[in-house]
Amino acid sequence: MEKKGLIVAVDGHSSTGKSTVSKILAARLGYTYIDTGAMYRIVTLKAMREGLIRNGNVDDEKLKEVLPTIIFGFKYNEGKKCYESYMNGEYVETAIRGLEVSDNVSLIAALPYVRELLVEKQREMAKEGGVIMDGRDIGSVVFPHAEVKFFMTASPEVRAQRRYKELIEKGEKVTYEEVEANVRKRDYIDEHRETSPLVKTPDAVLIDNGDMTVEEEVEEMLKIIRSRYESRN
Ligand code: DC
Repeated sequence: MEKKGLIVAVDGHSSTGKSTVSKILAARLGYTYIDTGAMYRIVTLKAMREGLIRNGNVDDEKLKEVLPTIIFGFKYNEGKKCYESYMNGEYVETAIRGLEVSDNVSLIAALPYVRELLVEKQREMAKEGGVIMDGRDIGSVVFPHAEVKFFMTASPEVRAQRRYKELIEKGEKVTYEEVEANVRKRDYIDEHRETSPLVKTPDAVLIDNGDMTVEEEVEEMLKIIRSRYESRN
């Protein structure tokens, strides 16, 4: 009987290139890639459109009503060779990556009732194995027994520079200072929130990619995944 694919958890700070390497790993291994950050971003977009975020406060009662009506969709775009996000059938990939959603997403991701629902969906999506899932709490909460866990990091300056370049290429009008402030703010909120704060679990392999090329990173991670797969019963 063929062995089931592994569950690979890729956690770490924002803008460390988690999704870039996760997509490549998934393609090389024939695994499914699941971007859990996109799920928190979709909820944020919905909350913003419904006017449920005002001055840093969320209307919890209304959001709890709206939450079960959100249908999360991820479709593979053959041309671009990547998954794109949909909300109730609407293409939202561009909208969820903008600075406005990025500015509010940590607020939404800190809400326990949002996390509870999304974690349940993530476990369901990975039940067949053969999955690369990237996020902040995959190795600590969603799959504490994942066979392979990575924790990715780089300095805030390196990450802000990468994100700034990405946004400028997309035509967003932002300054480097704004982007760096956003990266630092997100780090702080992610690491200090009460529910599922961002932590490196002791069994996660640390990847500091400040001085690494994507190819070097992918090779190192593939080696680890393959050896865990071979040594598994
Ligand atoms: O990976 P990203 O930047 O797209 O994530 C967006 C936000 O969602 C980020 O502020 C952290 C949060 N997030 C989370 O709390 N838990 C996850 N599993 C994934 C993302």
